[in-house]
Amino acid sequence: GPLRSSDDPQPLAIPPLNRGAVEGGERVFRLSLTTGQKEFVPGVASATIGVDADYLGPTLEMRRGERVRFHIDNALAEGATVHWHGFELPAAADGGPHQLIRPGTRWSPSFEVRQRASLYWYHSHLHRRAGPQVYAGLAAPIYVRDDEEAALDLPSDYGADDIPLIVQDRALDGSGKLIYPLNMHTRMMGVLGERIFVNGTQNAVFDAQTGQLRLRILNGSNARFYEFSLAEGQAMQLIASDGGLLDRPHTVRSLKLAPGERAQVIVDLTEGRPLSLVATSPDNAMGMMGGQGRGMMGGGMMNRPRDGGETGEVLRILDIRPGRGARARRLPPRLSSLNAPDLSLAVRTRRFVLDMGMMGRGMTINGAAMDMDIVNERVPVGQWEIWEIANASMMAHPFHIHNAQFRVIDRDGRRPPPLETGFKDTVVVNPREQLRVLLRFEEHTDPDLPYMYHCHILEHEDAGMMGQFLVVNS
Ligand code: C2O
Ligand code: CU
Repeated sequence: GPLRSSDDPQPLAIPPLNRGAVEGGERVFRLSLTTGQKEFVPGVASATIGVDADYLGPTLEMRRGERVRFHIDNALAEGATVHWHGFELPAAADGGPHQLIRPGTRWSPSFEVRQRASLYWYHSHLHRRAGPQVYAGLAAPIYVRDDEEAALDLPSDYGADDIPLIVQDRALDGSGKLIYPLNMHTRMMGVLGERIFVNGTQNAVFDAQTGQLRLRILNGSNARFYEFSLAEGQAMQLIASDGGLLDRPHTVRSLKLAPGERAQVIVDLTEGRPLSLVATSPDNAMGMMGGQGRGMMGGGMMNRPRDGGETGEVLRILDIRPGRGARARRLPPRLSSLNAPDLSLAVRTRRFVLDMGMMGRGMTINGAAMDMDIVNERVPVGQWEIWEIANASMMAHPFHIHNAQFRVIDRDGRRPPPLETGFKDTVVVNPREQLRVLLRFEEHTDPDLPYMYHCHILEHEDAGMMGQFLVVNS
């Protein structure tokens, strides 16, 4: 089944901006997790989850160096968690599986924003249920601003020339209702939908008023990988990865993002011609669904849904129409100073092997599935380490580490592409590949409460491809 576009273009939804309120030296956000109704196709309402909204939630804006506090009320009928993806913070504030917010209760974490300016996000991390909760809508962007970036005069007028794009695929049943098709096949491959939404809008149109647009793209999908480009192959200027600005703008014509990854690009409209952002979706099933595997599983055994993701299909996901009097703005030639990762700092190497087992049974890291009661690693605070991540399976996995922004050293000895020259918190490990990253946890020790590392294909995470680590005093 091909990916589907809807017939009617819709104006791109922009998540409302929530700057909180400064009270007693803290920036305070009051948020409520609620059930909602959303029409993924006109006239057909689906049950969803949102944050102060029917679906998804507000963009939270904060500044590096300030203290933030959240009061999160869970008005859902089920427990939930809210994880601050990409943040370095105390384990008790992380919002992972251990920070359950029971129905009818409030969670009030607080931390200092140590992050570089960038696009981060918050989403459900409920134990074994992150997949369905994020899919139903429990996810939204975070903007961290800082002085370094403000000095550069980049487009930063939220919703005008600085636009968050949360890209998510969704499956609808024959009547147009949202479904989360979890079965033997999707437990293994991840849940894929045949329609792609940007901020909840399919076939989105944005009317630009400026000559340059800064697009902050988040792959918020449960399992789908994308390669983004402009329809006519125009250049984009890549300026930032997960953890903020790269050293300089890099000219790119396409951009791959796996679930959990982000990138920021500047696109140019000064020629006065419309731009279309298009996505292709490489099949992340090589070996398993190809060749003999395809015959076996396509033959009925796996009841493979017609879920799109065919290699080579090109889908328009956002049309950008230029405004009048668009002014050109020059990008600074240097954005940030990033040192090359210094391997000589590392005093220890840890190895992580991702595997899937037969038929997706046994989603493991180092042979073990996630167990809330087992701490897999104890990492001394402040210690530089190399984490070597190997993929023994036939699917690519986006590996995410909590409480750190790391640097990619190499993949099978090869240098990383431009997007991986900056700070990352989520990185793809291809089948049979070995990836090395350099990291350290600078503060926030806790003798009992762990952080997570895991695959960001949410069905893999939910099935156990996740481990726990403590940051401890050495
Ligand atoms: Cu975005 Cu542990 O998750
Ligand atoms: Cu995975």
